[in-house]
Amino acid sequence: MATEEAQRDALAERLFGAALGAYELMTVHLGDRLGYYRALAERGESTSGELAEATGTEERYAREWLEQQAVAGILEVDDAAAGPGERRYRLPAGHAEVLIDRDSLAHVTPMARLGMSFAQTLPAVEEAFRTGGGVSWDAFGHLGRDAQGDANRPVFANLLGGEWLPAIADVHERLLADPPARVADVACGAGWSSIAMARAYPNVHVDGYDLDEASIELARANAAETEVADRVTFHVRDAGDPELAGSYQLVTVFEALHDMSQPVEALRALRGLVADDGAVIVMDERVADTFTAPGDEVERLMYTYSVLCCLPVGLADTPSAGTGTVMRAATMRRYASEAGFADVEVLPIEHEVFRFYRLR
Ligand SMILES: C[S@@+](CC[C@H](N)C(=O)[O-])C[C@H]1O[C@@H](n2cnc3c(N)ncnc32)[C@H](O)[C@@H]1O
Repeated sequence: MATEEAQRDALAERLFGAALGAYELMTVHLGDRLGYYRALAERGESTSGELAEATGTEERYAREWLEQQAVAGILEVDDAAAGPGERRYRLPAGHAEVLIDRDSLAHVTPMARLGMSFAQTLPAVEEAFRTGGGVSWDAFGHLGRDAQGDANRPVFANLLGGEWLPAIADVHERLLADPPARVADVACGAGWSSIAMARAYPNVHVDGYDLDEASIELARANAAETEVADRVTFHVRDAGDPELAGSYQLVTVFEALHDMSQPVEALRALRGLVADDGAVIVMDERVADTFTAPGDEVERLMYTYSVLCCLPVGLADTPSAGTGTVMRAATMRRYASEAGFADVEVLPIEHEVFRFYRLR
């Protein structure tokens, strides 16, 4: 049993480290927004004056940021003893992948952006704790929307069509076959999953649905820049809309069911969307089967998402199931059963953060 003093010191040290990490993450966000990392990657070694000029920012601020990033070990400096304006700073190649490569599975900058969207919305979340109300996803603004899209973009670009769907043999074969399959990507957000599916399967047509108008605008803009723009169409629609009927060979919901205020109604609507021989695949968080404390990193991460974002978002509408990010497998099974599905299979797809369900 740890003594009270040891417990005190351990927590103080841990929270100090967390605070330092949080502050440094904010400076990463600044570097991202101001285009500093990109400029350093393009220009190579730069002085503060050169970086400021390349990015249209003020030299004194650029200098402070460069010094801070070097001290934090994110950038490298050629000669620390040189005068402040003469020092040349560079972005190590491995760090560039983490900071600016939007398709890399190591790209972490969107998590900094997500944190900033949480911070921006925190007063409204605090108020919701007092009143029992909610905070709409829209309130997390373009930072939240961009961050969500960019955070999942690498997994969709690399794994969805490359590993995950090929692992579901009958779905994979149908998506490759004729007549061309139709896919409904429900709660598609920035549309990267819809785009990835169209890229992986050259026959399919994907309809992306989301009730957030700004997300659909973003998805349309994202698709317009790709070669699959003619096979991906985005619609502003609520997943629970009973009018949403179709005959899709594949219906997907990626990391969104737990955000929905009425997940059972949404799943019922999905049953109306899918063709008789079609498949419904839900990807949600790989949380533990039961509440255990303390939890591992995934559990800790998901609970922070839940407290700061997903629960308030879910409670923004009434009535609401109030699910939160930590939607356990048993909850998924209950929702599916209430929606009229006879069976929920947990698919043998391994991922650190996501779990896949097939609903029949
Ligand atoms: C966490 S984001 C996930 C977006 C995207 N699937 C991804 O993986 O990046 C959740 C999305 O669910 C959407 N959403 C929530 N409730 C919805 C509903 N009832 N119908 C359609 N979309 C909904 C939100 O607008 C938001 O874009």
